[in-house]
Amino acid sequence: MKRLFQSDYGYFTEDGREYVITTHNTPKPWCNVISNGDYGLMVSQTGGGYSWRGNAGQNRITRAFQDLIKDNWGKYIYIRDLDSGKYWSATWKPVEAEYEYYRVRHGIGYTCFEQKVDGIASRLTLFVAPYAPVEIMKLELCNESEKSRRLDVTSYFEWILGFAPDDHREFHKLFIDTRFCPEANALLADKHLWGFPDEKGRHNNVSWDYTAFHAVSENVKSYDADKESFIGMYRDERSPVAMELAELARNTGRFGDGAAALQTEITLGASDSRTVIFTIGAAQKGKEDAIELATKYTSKEAAEKAFEELGHFWAKFIDSERVKTPDPAMDIMTNIWLKYQAISCRLWGKSAYYQVSAGYGFRDQLQDCQIFLSSEPDYARKQILMHAAQQFNEGDVLHWWFTIRGGGPRTKCSDDLLWLPFILDAYLKETKDFKILDERVPYLDTGEDDLYGHCKRAIEKTFLRFSPRGIPLIGDHDWNDGLSAVGNEWKGESFWLAEFFYVVLKNFAPLADMRGDDAFAAKCRIVMDSMKDAVNRHGWDGEWYLQATTDEGEEVGSSRNEEGRIFLNPQVWAVISGIADEERARKCMDSVTKYLLKDYGALLLYPAYTRVRRDIGYITRYAPGLRENGGVYTHAATWAVWAYALMGDAKRAYEAYRRICPPNRSGNLKSYMAEPYVTPGNSDGPVSPYYGRGGWTWYTGSAQWLHNVAVNWILGVRATFEGLEVSPCIPPEWKEYSIWRKFRGATYSITVKNPNSKSTGVTSISVDGKRINGNIIPDFGDNSVHEVEVIM
Ligand code: GLC
Repeated sequence: MKRLFQSDYGYFTEDGREYVITTHNTPKPWCNVISNGDYGLMVSQTGGGYSWRGNAGQNRITRAFQDLIKDNWGKYIYIRDLDSGKYWSATWKPVEAEYEYYRVRHGIGYTCFEQKVDGIASRLTLFVAPYAPVEIMKLELCNESEKSRRLDVTSYFEWILGFAPDDHREFHKLFIDTRFCPEANALLADKHLWGFPDEKGRHNNVSWDYTAFHAVSENVKSYDADKESFIGMYRDERSPVAMELAELARNTGRFGDGAAALQTEITLGASDSRTVIFTIGAAQKGKEDAIELATKYTSKEAAEKAFEELGHFWAKFIDSERVKTPDPAMDIMTNIWLKYQAISCRLWGKSAYYQVSAGYGFRDQLQDCQIFLSSEPDYARKQILMHAAQQFNEGDVLHWWFTIRGGGPRTKCSDDLLWLPFILDAYLKETKDFKILDERVPYLDTGEDDLYGHCKRAIEKTFLRFSPRGIPLIGDHDWNDGLSAVGNEWKGESFWLAEFFYVVLKNFAPLADMRGDDAFAAKCRIVMDSMKDAVNRHGWDGEWYLQATTDEGEEVGSSRNEEGRIFLNPQVWAVISGIADEERARKCMDSVTKYLLKDYGALLLYPAYTRVRRDIGYITRYAPGLRENGGVYTHAATWAVWAYALMGDAKRAYEAYRRICPPNRSGNLKSYMAEPYVTPGNSDGPVSPYYGRGGWTWYTGSAQWLHNVAVNWILGVRATFEGLEVSPCIPPEWKEYSIWRKFRGATYSITVKNPNSKSTGVTSISVDGKRINGNIIPDFGDNSVHEVEVIM
């Protein structure tokens, strides 16, 4: 099999579906975030990680503390030779044994650790059952030595059972209750405390709503549910006292420090192999039964069946859209990993090594849910309605909310609420499901309205937040959270917000027309005109657009500033919105090219702030070049691709894309450090001594957007009300590419040919052999496959 993007650390398999890491020693933990939409886990290449149900902040199941250097919290399996006493672990951590080989295969919904230590080959496959709150650890052992071997296999991890992190563990351990259940080969664990108040508002007065279990498929030789007796005082997971004792201590109950360890013994003749299944799960009280779940999933047959289902489960989300281009990085990321990252981590798992979230961001998961549009648009529909329900009667929304029992901050963020109509538009263009506008959704405080009314209220709320000069006010911040002190008094303005709002109004006015809401449609158009005028009058700095003004009237993102002179967003959205005329569009994008488009993508601003500005916000408090402070903030860097493509600047669109497409960093992973198969939230800007270093991987809104700009704006195949538009913006040397996707009930197999080495423009399109006019493929909605040939 061909290996793609091979480096010292690993490679993609030929089909792109697995990233194979060939050493434990990657520059940072390289992870997989696995979720079935309910139960989730994270796992690094050393075996570090943890598990949760719902979200990892309010309902963590196993304990871990964020530490990207030590990466020393995991759910471990020890393998011990009972004759020699030597022991090691099925993952490199915690024992760190010398191996003959070590391979970690991160795949879609699973991770597999393959190694050989002391003549024993082991393969540990870790995954979550697609339809149950159960994770499965399938351990296959093969005796590749010449003599018969007596081994025991011992699992170990710590329970947390509820809110994480539980820093005050000496308090929390007092509420955990464990027992061994011999019929199910399982340890069970309850916690008589969950960090929520009870129905009368009394603190520390509810129990954790689940029973956790840990089970094994083989006879249990011994077990333990106490950290102290397993690890031993002043020792650690690398050399726990349990590995020096014949059997585990069998401590359970109320008086220990809640952990779980199960031990089973096997004998393997030369060349013999054996499979042992461990499971971990959490059963909701009154609805599910821990013993039943443990019994159902803890066998070789059940594990194999669940693994097979897993393939079908993910195929639904991954395989209904496929591109084939001359760029293998684009293919791998677009077809597989970006979808997986956006769904498994951002929308479902909500957790990763760099950030554990307990909730949904109002704007974040709305944007993320666009990943479902071409595969399962119903999931996007649900997400849109879910967010509408987090809106107040006045039109503003929770900045984020907890996914368990709700609640979150009501802030003066100025753009959150507008993402509802913005994403609605993308959903409607994909589906033409105008019925969604009539869905009744309650407001968070009082009353309810249809979705149309919710969006209208978000827009009306924004109408009330304008400066005397006709620019929307920034409030606590706009999309850029770090601009957190610019306009808290509702005086500072955001030019980016004006542009974004312009797009929202442009899309919403026709919906208002459609519903006979003429006065509102007219108002949207009047505001658009006046805003366009105001932005060009007050927001033009000469070579580019300003980002904002502060409550004191200071400009942010101006050539007159010493630091933070030019911001990316107001330039690219001037183009995306159409607020800039041709000349200004060209000028401001030239400025983007000159100041912002660097080796690893477009910087969010330049130059980075080196001095704290109290009147701007925490963006200026980050080290210069990191995150929003002048790093490549991948989420926004994808929008540069969109803007360049709109300008017809195929060369730069592709460069802006290629430089942030992770597999392309495989040549310098030592300095990039991050996983090459998922997007990082950011990479360091040029002023950082670690220029180009990737960080904050997995949990980033850039995954969906990188997919989005590749398909819609480079390959140029995008949903419009009239049908599927094809407007390529590609490198001229590309001879051909294809895209296969579902669209409103039919499937389109589109091949774009470029015989004359063009980068934009379509000469002809034929559908099923017949020429059509223009570049929009009509929507047949007939459940069949249509062959489309596009000649550029
Ligand atoms: C974080 C937030 C996102 C915000 C971005 C830029 O990723 O989750 O909502 O837009 O930062 O500040």
